[in-house]
Amino acid sequence: MSAGLETPLQAASTLGTTVDVLFLTMLGVTGAVAIAVAVCIGYFTIRYRRSSGADRSNPPSRVRWVEVTWTATPLIIFLGIFLWSSAVFSQFYRPPRDALRVHVLAKQWMWKVEHDNGRREIDTLHVPVGRPVELIMTSQDVIHSFFVPAFRIKQDVLPGRYTSLWFTATRSGHFSLFCAEYCGTSHANMGGGITVMPQAEFAKWLASGPEQAGLAARGFEIYRRVGCSGCHEPTSTVHAPGLTGLYGRPVHLSDGSTVVADETYIRDSILQPQKQVVAGFAPVMPSFQGQLDEDDLIALIAFLKSRARPP
Ligand code: CUA
Repeated sequence: MSAGLETPLQAASTLGTTVDVLFLTMLGVTGAVAIAVAVCIGYFTIRYRRSSGADRSNPPSRVRWVEVTWTATPLIIFLGIFLWSSAVFSQFYRPPRDALRVHVLAKQWMWKVEHDNGRREIDTLHVPVGRPVELIMTSQDVIHSFFVPAFRIKQDVLPGRYTSLWFTATRSGHFSLFCAEYCGTSHANMGGGITVMPQAEFAKWLASGPEQAGLAARGFEIYRRVGCSGCHEPTSTVHAPGLTGLYGRPVHLSDGSTVVADETYIRDSILQPQKQVVAGFAPVMPSFQGQLDEDDLIALIAFLKSRARPP
């Protein structure tokens, strides 16, 4: 690990502080109850020890309000914590619309990262400070988990589907990244670091590095190479759904339901085209399972996103 690595004790993301306040409150409440119970146990143990002369002749009768109070109080506290934590939890699944999107591909045993302009890195992730970043993640083999303690974020990364995670880093520096799901022999070594940089420095970093085609451009090349364009271009003779403006739009399916064309929908449509057939079209598209790897799918999705209509 590089020198100057920060300890995860102090949160370094916007939601991190929210999580810390919730955690410390729960620790305070449960700690206070634990201490109160321990004190009562100690007091009664001494007060009513066998040799004590304490009066045992007249045990108290049942007092209803005491029972109601000690049942209702914890219930109200727990419900309050539940509501509070679900509000925090739901924030983790609502990334801001202007978030910078980065693709993460996990495999035994490394993290491969690809930025929109085609810049790639392994076991590191460079991000700008103060800007929301959304990670679109998938795995090429088994289940992994993307864990950055300093940001208070952790999300399983699954083969065959996309999961996402977002954060806004609040200060520059290096932060540890871990795999938090046992994934085989080198699981313990599967990690790396997040480098948070000032925005101007990040822009410079992103533009540097080996010259390569952007993600969407690579996707367009695959789109032509494997023959998607043969059916999906407006000029083609085959009757297939158009792809321009598809990303993010609701799609009506032949079974009457409606889905939003997100990453998972596009991925499924390429690999399992019969799963969700667009209303009004024949189920004639072949599967591209085995012909495209995860990198290709990420590039194709980036290409379709580049053809999305602006919000
Ligand atoms: Cu990947 Cu543990």
